[in-house]
Amino acid sequence: SDEKVQLKKKIADLLTEKKAVLVAHYYVDSDLQDLAEETGGCVSDSLEMARFGRDHAAKTLVVAGVKFMGETAKILSPEKTILMPDLDATCSLDLGCDPDEFAAFCDAHPDRTVVVYANTSAAVKARADWMVTSSVGLDIVAHLHTQGKKILWAPDKHLGSYIQKQTGADMLLWQGSCLVHDEFKGIELEILKESHPAAKILVHPESPAAVVALADVVGSTSQLINAVRTLDAQEFIVATDNGILHKMQMAAPNKKFIVAPTAGNSATCKSCAHCPWMAMNGLRNLLHVLETGENQIQVDPDIGRRAKLSIDRMLDFAA
Ligand code: 13P
Ligand code: SF4
Repeated sequence: SDEKVQLKKKIADLLTEKKAVLVAHYYVDSDLQDLAEETGGCVSDSLEMARFGRDHAAKTLVVAGVKFMGETAKILSPEKTILMPDLDATCSLDLGCDPDEFAAFCDAHPDRTVVVYANTSAAVKARADWMVTSSVGLDIVAHLHTQGKKILWAPDKHLGSYIQKQTGADMLLWQGSCLVHDEFKGIELEILKESHPAAKILVHPESPAAVVALADVVGSTSQLINAVRTLDAQEFIVATDNGILHKMQMAAPNKKFIVAPTAGNSATCKSCAHCPWMAMNGLRNLLHVLETGENQIQVDPDIGRRAKLSIDRMLDFAA
């Protein structure tokens, strides 16, 4: 619509004027994803968002995603201003891993190397030895396992048990989950697969084991989009947030995509296949923070310095 075009133009102009860059995740509104690319920002998975923000010369980063992504950007670049369209956009994994309870869990198992998922608070990262994202978690735990390390993993139980099965590492798991991916159902997916025998199944590893077991490809959002480009198939069943379909359709306009079955449909299940916190990012609140400078991400400098050590370990490993 005209209004949308005008909003996008205003935002693009303000980004230039303020020497700011937009860093977006694949689950946010497609208008924000397009805008990020059109204005020299990026749209990517959590690992690439962290790297892009760290390496970009802009003094201000606008992070369209959820809180942990903004915090990671701030931890890696404390001198930059980090803005987010809505500071209440969080993540069920982050909410389900209270820093004090987590510290007590770590204290009870001092013999274990602490590996945490990116989807956590700065305080949890500060207590960890390693932070990982879905794109490199498996490789990093495999590496620690060959060194004979025993792992304490938090917070996603599904990603943790997937990595545990793949690597054979000794992993003690925190019992968190993603409210979006937890809703994908194995039996229903099996039935859907029967009616689409040629379709390849793409699964984010935050999904339950019964869903991961049916996957042709398990990976981060970037890895799943890459699979659409490289796999010789015309049809894909996708078990992750439906925001990803925008990029998948752009990557392969002639291919067909079906969202994997969830417990309910959009009428009965608000978070089915779409993250309610990612959905808080829009053109209007993005424009508002650029105009006002509101919604700056702050991380306690001492916590930030400690959290940076665990993030840098991953970035060095993945370099
Ligand atoms: P990716 O790092 O794979 O983009 O995942 C982030 C996330 O929050 C998935 O739910
Ligand atoms: Fe967190 Fe799940 Fe939303 Fe990703 S999709 S931000 S893991 S609640």
